Amino acid sequence: MRIIKVKNYEKISHSAANVIAAQILLKPDLVLGLATGSSPIGIYEELVKKHQLWDLDFSEVRTVNLDEYCGMEAEDLQSYHYFMRKHLFDKVNLKLENVHLPDGKASDIAEECVNYDAMIRKLGGIDLQLLGIGRNGHIGFNEPSDSFPLGTHCVKLTSSTIEANQRFFGSTGEVPRQAITMGIGSIMKARRILLVASGKDKAEAIREMLTGPITPKHPASVLQLHPDAVLIGDEEALSDY
Ligand code: F6R
Repeated sequence: MRIIKVKNYEKISHSAANVIAAQILLKPDLVLGLATGSSPIGIYEELVKKHQLWDLDFSEVRTVNLDEYCGMEAEDLQSYHYFMRKHLFDKVNLKLENVHLPDGKASDIAEECVNYDAMIRKLGGIDLQLLGIGRNGHIGFNEPSDSFPLGTHCVKLTSSTIEANQRFFGSTGEVPRQAITMGIGSIMKARRILLVASGKDKAEAIREMLTGPITPKHPASVLQLHPDAVLIGDEEALSDY
């Protein structure tokens, strides 16, 4: 894994947005895998600026998001659909038919998962997948487990993730217990991976990802096997490495 160490969150956002913008310039119909959470918000702000100030063109870009909470309406303020519209989709010239997220309200979740993987295959696979990392090493919502899940699937969120995500809700009780997430297999098939990590509370997860054994107990450790994975981390996130 290539490691780019920068000073702080702002610099991560700037560098990661530059990487994504460069990929879009080189391949205007890029298939871009997207993440939610705190880590990418600054990146999306930078991409919006590049669109507004420098005409970065998203008109042919296709996007696929990693995950969505089960039971969430797309209009729900806590849904990842809403998050993506608020931070990126409504602010650049992406075409709505080109953006994809799992449907947390699907009546048949198993079928939704199969269809999501089929849709990614139909797009030709992911060119660049943006990732954050959980404090327990999760990527997407692939929580620590006994095996690496391959395709898109439904997961039960761990208490550590529920606790970490309660800041987006009123209380832990309001955080959904299940989510649909791309599997580790889907993520590993992306031709390039860009993982961003900021802050001291990610330092242990980053150290384990880079130097620990490759194990589903720390899902991000699988990225050691990816041929083109890049980590952009700040001084705090890289402080234990
Ligand atoms: C979100 C996602 C998660 C987050 C991770 C880190 O789509 O897939 O894996 O990237 O939980 O979240 P933040 O960035 O909020 O620390």
